[in-house]
Amino acid sequence: MKIQDCLLPALALLATLPMNAELVDISTAKTSLILDAEKGSPLKVLYYGDRLDARDKDVLRDAGGMNLNAYPVYGLYPQAEAALSVTHADGNRTTDVAVTDIKTSTENNGASVTTVCMTDKAYPFDVNLNYRTYPDQDVIETWVEIKNREKGTVTLNRFMSGYLPVRYGDVWLSSLYGTWADEANLTEEPLPHGVRMIKNKDGLRNSHTSHGEIMLSLDGKPRENSGRVIGAALCYPGNYKLFIDTDDTNFHHLFAGINEENSEYHLKKGETFTTPELALTYSDEGLSGVSRNFHKWGRKYRLHAGDKERKVLLNSWEGVYFNINEEVMAGMMEDIASMGGELFVMDDGWFGDKYPRDVDNSTLGDWVVDTNKLPNGINGLLETAKKNGVKFGIWIEPEMTNTVSELYENHPEYIIKAPNREVVKGRGGTQLVLDMANPKVQDIVFTVVDTLMTKYPEIDYIKWDANAPIMEHGSQYLTADNQSHLYIDYHNGLIKTLNRIREAHPDVTIQACASGGGRVNWGILPWFDEFWCSDNNDALQRVYMQWGTSYFFPAIAMGSHISASPNHQTFRRIPTKFRADVAMSGRLGLEMQPRDMNDEDKDICRQAINDYKAIRPIVQFGDLYRLQSPYDKKGVASLMYVTPEKDDAVFYWWKIETFMGQQLPRIPMAGLDPDKMYTVTELNRIDNEPLPFEGKSFTGRYLMSNGLEMPLTYKVDYHKNTDYSSRVLRLTAK
Ligand code: DGJ
Repeated sequence: MKIQDCLLPALALLATLPMNAELVDISTAKTSLILDAEKGSPLKVLYYGDRLDARDKDVLRDAGGMNLNAYPVYGLYPQAEAALSVTHADGNRTTDVAVTDIKTSTENNGASVTTVCMTDKAYPFDVNLNYRTYPDQDVIETWVEIKNREKGTVTLNRFMSGYLPVRYGDVWLSSLYGTWADEANLTEEPLPHGVRMIKNKDGLRNSHTSHGEIMLSLDGKPRENSGRVIGAALCYPGNYKLFIDTDDTNFHHLFAGINEENSEYHLKKGETFTTPELALTYSDEGLSGVSRNFHKWGRKYRLHAGDKERKVLLNSWEGVYFNINEEVMAGMMEDIASMGGELFVMDDGWFGDKYPRDVDNSTLGDWVVDTNKLPNGINGLLETAKKNGVKFGIWIEPEMTNTVSELYENHPEYIIKAPNREVVKGRGGTQLVLDMANPKVQDIVFTVVDTLMTKYPEIDYIKWDANAPIMEHGSQYLTADNQSHLYIDYHNGLIKTLNRIREAHPDVTIQACASGGGRVNWGILPWFDEFWCSDNNDALQRVYMQWGTSYFFPAIAMGSHISASPNHQTFRRIPTKFRADVAMSGRLGLEMQPRDMNDEDKDICRQAINDYKAIRPIVQFGDLYRLQSPYDKKGVASLMYVTPEKDDAVFYWWKIETFMGQQLPRIPMAGLDPDKMYTVTELNRIDNEPLPFEGKSFTGRYLMSNGLEMPLTYKVDYHKNTDYSSRVLRLTAK
């Protein structure tokens, strides 16, 4: 994050706008945010929505309506909610900021940043609002820098990243809620009067329950492919708070930022506090339109290596859990290679010398190979991988330790712990969290990755896990008067460490996993190539979880694995074809012991991998159109990906319940070129005979108005039919 200090003339990049240019236009290709920046007054927000015609801009103030402070501060008129609340060095709890300057700059990647500088009318205390846009995106990133030039320490009591008023109306909130193994459930509700709050206080994993991203549908009940929708995503990996206050004004007031509870921040004289970014987007193409905006922006500017295809992998976890040994790993590598996979990932259980990691109650922090399990070490595994023509990946959980570990024995001072209390322990009854606020711990975590990558540069992939919340409020590193900094400094330390890691090792693929889907957020993804959405691999439940996740995150980053049947979490039995058809709508992988599969199932997986490789660019880089929501309870869910050129598409159809006499809706497609002819090919086909439309060509117009009729069952030998059916169709334009 770059600090734009309006008071530093040394930043030659910045060009000052003439001060009579009071309207600040933060426009993207299709959207505009218009601010009124009159010198000596607080910054106002006048408009956010469709890109504004210049002629309307000139008379915008006269149209009436929005004219609210762009960043409400606390103290004068304290009845209303504020984005910023501070206690000045002299104890004054009021703040009153006014515009002093407007600057613009261009970043190396072509992004433009507009900075509106504001200073308190009575205190040397600055609040700079930043707005970043990209020439090719419809996302605006906004964040705030708060600088203390007072004589003593200023305490920040609330310090949101952004605020946006939305005209009062039939506005609906779409947000995600869940729990471990049931992440990213979609909730849709009209905004009530009063406050609707979405928050996280885990300290470390921030997306198991609620998510720091929302959508607001402005035209009543949310629709996937029509209607005006605003999207907001807080780009932060730690505790957050988003709330919408619908008060007695004509507005719903959206606030989003770090959760300030128990986190007041002491800003010493001369220090600047920078909030995380809030990414805002707008689309008149419904919820899917907002998703596409987030996906496109994320892949290009936010997700690590968002332009590189992801490999098809086998992860060892559900296949063998902790029962890792050289022979079993070799077998798995051979099997995934034989099915066309490209990468094998050895999960938990490979490490420990004094304390071997055989179950989940020891050894985190002791990142040395268990030579009893792996006599030839990582090098032996790398050789086997090479022999099989697959890449090799490895699991770590570097922010953690256990009471039973050499790391903890030698350095009990490195863990998060409150004084005079017995330490609170997590997973396995022994897990502890290392204090990332401590630079020595940051070094240790950096060294875990650096040592692995330096000793074994051929490691292609790291699964970075984090299986605990911050379990007590206490830093052994921070001073007594700065204990409230723990949650924020933890993440500052983590980000510092990730920056070091990426500088040294830019090419290794890293997955963000945190007890499944605990780290699915745009605050962590600049350093990670993908995330694990859930420890629940049940294909039916994944239809729902991946649907919700896709609201804000692209398929390229969404690990999605074919696992065993019966499923290890729900014990549901789902045929391989359906499991494969669901998994291949994200970043395809397998998570099972291939030796437990019969030849027929292996063939289905082999075919799925092969077909996936062909459609991978469409899934991983295409535009998502969600068509039929599983939450609508119509018995079927459906979505599709279309290339930006609209010359290739993949359509997914999953029947999610089965009753006799069921009348399923026919699903019109979306996102195609109405005038192009698309030839239909079914992928992952198991029927004895092709579907009637196999190989036939239809106009995009017909497909988007009518869709194609999907049979409810397969044409297979009687004993092979099941209560599940699904279809994956490729649509190739001539
Ligand atoms: C939790 C993760 O979500 C799982 O995939 C697996 O890696 C385990 N941790 C290993 O302990």
